Amino acid sequence: MRYLIIGAGAVGGTIGGRLAQSGHDVVLVARGKQYEALRDHGLRLQTPDGPHTHRLPVVDGPEALGTLRADDVLILAVKTQDSTAALAAWGPRPVAGGGTAAQHLPLVCAQNGVESERIALRTFRRVYAMCVWLPSTFVEPGVVRAEGTPLSGILHLGRYPEGSDDTVRAIAEDLGQSHFDAPVVDDVMRWKYAKLVANMVNSIEAVSGVIDGDEGRALLRQARAEGEAVLAAAGIPYTSQQEEQKVRGGRIRFEPFDDVPRGGGSSWQSLNRGTGSIEADYLNGEIALLGRLHGVPTPINDVLQEYANEAARQRRPAGATPVGELTAAIAAHR
Ligand SMILES: NC(=O)c1ccc[n+]([C@@H]2O[C@H](COP(=O)([O-])OP(=O)(O)OC[C@H]3O[C@@H](n4cnc5c(N)ncnc54)[C@H](OP(=O)(O)O)[C@@H]3O)[C@@H](O)[C@H]2O)c1
Repeated sequence: MRYLIIGAGAVGGTIGGRLAQSGHDVVLVARGKQYEALRDHGLRLQTPDGPHTHRLPVVDGPEALGTLRADDVLILAVKTQDSTAALAAWGPRPVAGGGTAAQHLPLVCAQNGVESERIALRTFRRVYAMCVWLPSTFVEPGVVRAEGTPLSGILHLGRYPEGSDDTVRAIAEDLGQSHFDAPVVDDVMRWKYAKLVANMVNSIEAVSGVIDGDEGRALLRQARAEGEAVLAAAGIPYTSQQEEQKVRGGRIRFEPFDDVPRGGGSSWQSLNRGTGSIEADYLNGEIALLGRLHGVPTPINDVLQEYANEAARQRRPAGATPVGELTAAIAAHR
């Protein structure tokens, strides 16, 4: 199989680099300065086991590849707000032997949130979901830090909306040779909804910085509780923290290495890089949407979503707003 990594940033760069390191065929898809850096200098993957430079084929869009191979696997690793555009570009591409990517090729959503699979399933016939526990950082073009150790990530995989098949088992096997654990599960969305609740940290950290005080921790607890109340009202199952701990316990930690502390997660990185957009509509916004559908007020996630979007629009630096301002805005919104 050949892996086309659509969005070779933090997650895509780590998955692509680690797959290439274990001898798999990988093409990176990137844009802007990241495309230029990967093309000119290769992917510089910094890991706790040392730096690796991967000189891999890099393209800035599907046209550069021409007809796709029948054994291509598409790994979608863009932030959710970029999924629609990426899928529209890749779905109609011709595949050797006839038909299009959307008709024939497996597409794996290696993303947070639960919306990309739904977006993909409108056009792609073979959609797979991945629950991404993979701490990684991309703040400098061409450089990705994969911070997990001893595994780079734990990536539950399954067919969307449920089930499994030989394709997902083959992908999991390749990932399993590449510094990942990739359990194949029939209920992958149950894992992704638990990750969604964990992602309540994203906006707080992006807007107010790494959570290290009591006020930030209390806000995170409340945001998570709101998320859990919404999922309960919607009747959506998700894995318990004990279940998660059983899988992850001791097999993935993230520790600073080379004396570089981790700045923050993927939303923090969006503000840090000044991309102008952030994933909040698909994280806090998913909770707000479900809350509105099921009659549960979501004042905390409403405010976090609005603050995160505003910070991204105004290209404010990560961590620029004191957590007290967030809690005051939430109190005023209740
Ligand atoms: N980073 C983490 O530690 C982490 C951990 C678990 C899960 N996740 C999730 O994984 C997903 C990816 O996050 P990430 O942090 O890896 O994002 P990222 O570092 O921003 O990487 C995504 C890359 O895709 C590029 N891109 C967007 N649309 C594209 C297109 N059509 N063609 C080519 N490249 C395109 C982006 O370009 P621009 O920079 O120009 O936007 C960016 O370079 C998100 O859902 C995130 O929540 C992240």
